[in-house]
This record gives sequence, C-alpha cells and structure tokens, in this order.
Amino acid sequence: MIPKQLREELLDHVASAVTPREAAVEVMRALQAFYGWLTDEAVDEAAEILSLSPLQVEELATFYEMIYRRPVGKRVIHLCDSISCWSAGAESMMAYLRKSLGIDEGGTTENGIFTLVPCACLGNCGEGPTMLIGETLYGSLTPERLDQILEEEREGVRCLDN
Ligand code: FES
Repeated sequence: MIPKQLREELLDHVASAVTPREAAVEVMRALQAFYGWLTDEAVDEAAEILSLSPLQVEELATFYEMIYRRPVGKRVIHLCDSISCWSAGAESMMAYLRKSLGIDEGGTTENGIFTLVPCACLGNCGEGPTMLIGETLYGSLTPERLDQILEEEREGVRCLDN
C-alpha cells in the first residue's frame, strides 16, 4: 500500500482534474514509481483513487507503453522505432543494445538493471536514433554513445543501491 501522504497528493491531483481519466496517467505513473511496475495491487489502488473500476484502469494501463504491467528492470530503455529514427539507424542501435545487454526486445537483464523495449516516436525526430530512459531523452545515438550512456545509467543504479 502506498504511503498516506502520496495517496493524499494523488487524491488532490484527481480532485483538480476535469475528469478522473485526465489524472489517470499521473496516478498510474506515481504508483509505478512506488512499486517499480504497475502491480495488481497498484491497479486496485489507482482505481480507488480515480473512482474507476480496476478494469477501466487496466484498459488505460495497456494503452500507454510507458506503464508496465509486468516486472521491469530499474532502467527501462525505450528505443524509438518510428520512421525518422528507423531511417537514421535505429535498427542497428537495437541490434547493438540486444547484443551488449544480452537480451531480446522486451527482455530484462539478469542483474535486473535494464529492460529493452521499442517504442513509437518520442518527439525528437531530428536527432535520431533516439531513446528514452526514465525522464532522460538521448538522441544522435551511436554504439560508442550507447556504451557511455549504459555505463552512466549503471552507475546511477549503483549509487541508489548504496
Ligand atoms: S521518429 Fe524517433 S523520435 Fe520521432
């Protein structure tokens, strides 16, 4: 169960929204940040906070690709595979990530740090290939840059764990 203070903040947020659905993404993201992914318990809590049914929350959750209904790594890599990034070499960046992380698309590394997923346009089409990790957008990707970013993200996880 989420802390009382977070629950109250989310209820305030829902109260200030025009409709509960408008606040749904924010509520689901907050619960996901707390649990690591949108667990069944989180769906029930989101439903209660939003005054929606769990099924309605479930439908919304499956619509948004940044909401995870299964366990994911501490860092989820969303690599854009839409047209501009694809033509800038996203496919070879995906192949490089698969190889260097030792996972397929949708997979999570054994150490639980990274999950790799393709995604639709991230709005950074002029600087493809582009990926998003957490709130950080990375453009103009190359294998060298990927190595550097992965190491920085690993370091970030290590710092949080210690
Ligand atoms: S096509 Fe990749 S960011 Fe738009």
